[in-house]
Amino acid sequence: MQILCQTNLDALEKARMLGSNGVLSLLEKKGLEGRGGAAFSTAKKWQTCRDTPADERFVVCNADEGEPGSFKDKFIIRCNAETLIEGILIAAYTIGAKRCFIYLRGEYDYLRPRLQEQIEDVISRAKMKGVTIEIVRGAGAYICGESTALVQSIMGFRGAAMYKPPNPTRQGLWGKPTLINNVETLTCAAQAVLFDDWDANLRLFSLSGNIKNPGVYEFPLGVKMSTVLDVARPEKKLKAMSFGCFGGIMPVDKSMSITPEAICKGDCQQGNYSIIFIDETHNIVDIVYSIAKFYTYESCGKCTPCREGTVRMLNLLKKIRSGEGEKKDLQLLRELAMHIQETSLCGLGESCGNHILTSLEHFSKDYETYLAKK
Ligand SMILES: Cc1cc2nc3c(=O)[nH]c(=O)nc-3n(C[C@H](O)[C@H](O)[C@H](O)COP(=O)(O)O)c2cc1C
Ligand code: SF4
Repeated sequence: MQILCQTNLDALEKARMLGSNGVLSLLEKKGLEGRGGAAFSTAKKWQTCRDTPADERFVVCNADEGEPGSFKDKFIIRCNAETLIEGILIAAYTIGAKRCFIYLRGEYDYLRPRLQEQIEDVISRAKMKGVTIEIVRGAGAYICGESTALVQSIMGFRGAAMYKPPNPTRQGLWGKPTLINNVETLTCAAQAVLFDDWDANLRLFSLSGNIKNPGVYEFPLGVKMSTVLDVARPEKKLKAMSFGCFGGIMPVDKSMSITPEAICKGDCQQGNYSIIFIDETHNIVDIVYSIAKFYTYESCGKCTPCREGTVRMLNLLKKIRSGEGEKKDLQLLRELAMHIQETSLCGLGESCGNHILTSLEHFSKDYETYLAKK
């Protein structure tokens, strides 16, 4: 696996040789995009952070990994933390930061002692004077992975999303430019700097659900679904795949090539390539109900559409599942989901209707099964 290649501080040495501008042009040329979900150009983000006037800047590694079905960042921290730490140091060198943080999901606290040792070891070997990397325990909420809420949480406040702009890249921790990147992005950054044959097309997939071989796999974008299923080994005939909670639900098509465009055609979003497979024994409305419960629980409550809307969508789903639903409830559900998406403050509210809209589009028969019970 490319993601397991170790850079052994050679990437940092090369970065120092290239200088800040050289690193930025190399990352731009290699085509590294963020692996936290939004696929934003890493070089552009680093440059914006570096070029925003300030007396201090920060680097944050987002290891909150709150997306249901995602466990690729944990895999990297367990199997190649040294390269991740080197990626953080390269980012700090490139943007001119001294203080760095790893915001580590609370449930991954058991990884902390070893990670701490590895940080101390890499920093002492890297001879980067005055640079520190501090591990901050995640506060246990999905929203804390969102960049503005994460900034609040590190500063000791309640994790709640803030209005953007300003983006943390320009105004983050203590009002200073703050570079926030995902674990996989920073690991790839070190590898992209060092290896001439580093391949931007390779992606980590977290596969789970009704399959015999759940786990983290590396595939190129464009891989055929049939190839993925050959390794994942579904137990029964598959009906659907859910892209975490964030990205929506669509039917499994063995002939499909997995690309963001193909996923988009199903009105879904690939997010960070966490795919939960669902077999034909499930009614999709039950899955959608679980996801709606998740969103209701995780809504931070700051804005009305998401705080109120998630509860109302959940109540409508409850009504449908109890056999009391009517055809008009489906239209209400659709309108509610669209309205919340359009009017919410942050990515959580913007995504909380995806599973509802995509399931209504692709699995209307499952809703009708429940409606027919009335
Ligand atoms: C509700 C919500 C939760 C998020 N959780 C995570 C997370 O756990 N890890 C992550 O890297 N990005 C997460 N993100 C995306 C981050 O806001 C941010 O875009 C990302 O860390 C940027 O890193 P990248 O440029 O390397 O992709 C989340 C976004 C939202 C809206
Ligand atoms: S959309 Fe939801 S999670 Fe985001 S700020 Fe509003 S209430 Fe909080």
